[in-house]
Amino acid sequence: MKLITTKDYDSMSKRAATLIASELTINPKLVLGLATGSTVKGLYKYLVSWYKEGYLDFSNIETVNLDEYLGLSPEHEQSYRYFMNHYLFDQTNIDKSKTHVPDGLAINPMKECFRYDKLIENLGGINLQLLGIGHNGHIGFNEPGDAFSKGTSLENLSDLTIKKNSRFFTSIEEVPQRALTMGIQSIMAAEKILLCVSGPDKAPILKETLTGPISPKVPASILQVHRNCTIIADEAALSKM
Ligand code: F6R
Repeated sequence: MKLITTKDYDSMSKRAATLIASELTINPKLVLGLATGSTVKGLYKYLVSWYKEGYLDFSNIETVNLDEYLGLSPEHEQSYRYFMNHYLFDQTNIDKSKTHVPDGLAINPMKECFRYDKLIENLGGINLQLLGIGHNGHIGFNEPGDAFSKGTSLENLSDLTIKKNSRFFTSIEEVPQRALTMGIQSIMAAEKILLCVSGPDKAPILKETLTGPISPKVPASILQVHRNCTIIADEAALSKM
């Protein structure tokens, strides 16, 4: 793992966006795995502004998002499809038909998991996967458990995740309790991984992820054995190291 320390959230965002921009410049047909959440908003802002200044061309990339809440439509403001449209896709020349997010309204979620795995396989795998980390060490919505998940699956969200994510909903009761998520095996199969971490509240879990034992109790700990994983973290997130 390569660890890059930045001063604060903004410099973490800029550094991460620079890394993605260079991968995109090297390979205009990049298969880019994307994440949602507060951590990645800043880096999407940089990518959008560099696109608007004429430095980036997204027209040939394919994107695959990590996860989606079960039961939320693409129009729901808290759905991850909505997030992606809002913060990145609608503001660049990305071809929307080449952007993929699990279908939160799938009538048969198991079939949807299978379809999503097949889609990633047909794309030839993911070149670069962007990740954030949950306070419990989740990546995507792969919550702590007894075993690492394989392909895309339907996950029950932990009480902690529901509580943390309730900040985006009007009440905790509105937070979906299940989500479709790319599995750990699919994430680990990505050629390159970029994990972004910011803020003092993520410091304890980042320390556990980087220095603790590799265990499904801390799903992100498996990144210790990825062949090409870069972590960009700000000083606050590294304050417990
Ligand atoms: C979302 C995702 C999650 C988030 C994580 C951190 O697509 O994959 O694993 O990256 O929950 O969320 P924030 O950045 O909001 O702290």
